Amino acid sequence: RWVAVLSGGLSHERDVSLRSGRRLSAALRSAGCTVTEQDADHELLGRLRDERPEAVLIALHGGEGENGAIQSVLELLDIPYVGTPARACRRAWDKPTAKAELARAGLDTPEWAVLPQSTFRELGAQPVLDALVSKLGLPLMLKPVQGGSALGARVVRDSSELPSAMMGAFAYGETVLVEKLVEGTEIAVGVVEDAAGPHALPPVRIEPSNGIFDYTARYTAGLTSYQAPAELPEETVAAASELAVSAHRLLGLRDVSRTDAIVDTAGRVHFLEVNVSPGLTNTSLLPMAVEAAGRTLGDVFSGLVERAIV
Ligand code: DAL
Ligand code: MG
Repeated sequence: RWVAVLSGGLSHERDVSLRSGRRLSAALRSAGCTVTEQDADHELLGRLRDERPEAVLIALHGGEGENGAIQSVLELLDIPYVGTPARACRRAWDKPTAKAELARAGLDTPEWAVLPQSTFRELGAQPVLDALVSKLGLPLMLKPVQGGSALGARVVRDSSELPSAMMGAFAYGETVLVEKLVEGTEIAVGVVEDAAGPHALPPVRIEPSNGIFDYTARYTAGLTSYQAPAELPEETVAAASELAVSAHRLLGLRDVSRTDAIVDTAGRVHFLEVNVSPGLTNTSLLPMAVEAAGRTLGDVFSGLVERAIV
């Protein structure tokens, strides 16, 4: 098979994407594919139109790689690609939209509020922050509504930290998602599809050494310890797997996804977010889960290429 792996792009996660792209390309080559690596720059469209690879793999993170834009282009060019269709990407990429859809279906997700920056201008910062704390309590988790790799995300334990955490999140977009922080164990559950449907991979347990799984803790080897498969009670593994597969199905995702979740102290699993283009770097979670399942990235993704081409 001759495939193109797209990476780079212009999002804040460009560097992570280049690392994912390199690893994915190597894995596909070892599975026998011929791979061209392509940066998602302004010449991409013309190159894809002229070269017409048999299939495209999207190792882009953030922005156009996850919001459906690149997927729409591939659909217009009628080139098969691995991953979620454009329409479903748009839904999954917007964190409050995904949470609302899954909460409607009865899945557990931390209580939340959505805060557009204009609210501050209209009502003043302090009344808005006070209302937030009285609605959701403390501690809180703040994130840009669209984003990845924990960029702009912050835990707020004391209301005095709220203004700076808000500003940090607004640096990545006009709207902030504010969630009640659920204390517990952070896990990630990969989902891969085959002819029988979507299957969960073994959950990976995340333990950042300083307690916070931020950008540095994600991409610096040794700063976070990972347990794959996570040693969790059997019923927790079953609940986490069901949550990830339900999120994948309910949001209309395709081929591969990764759901991030928290197991609270009572063992309940809460949905945090889903990723349609999970990181594939050397410190990323999906490759660990694939290995814990006794498979290789090359085997998984070359299998997805065959599904995309059929
Ligand atoms: N957004 C990063 C790449 C991840 O979810 O793995
Ligand atoms: Mg994410």
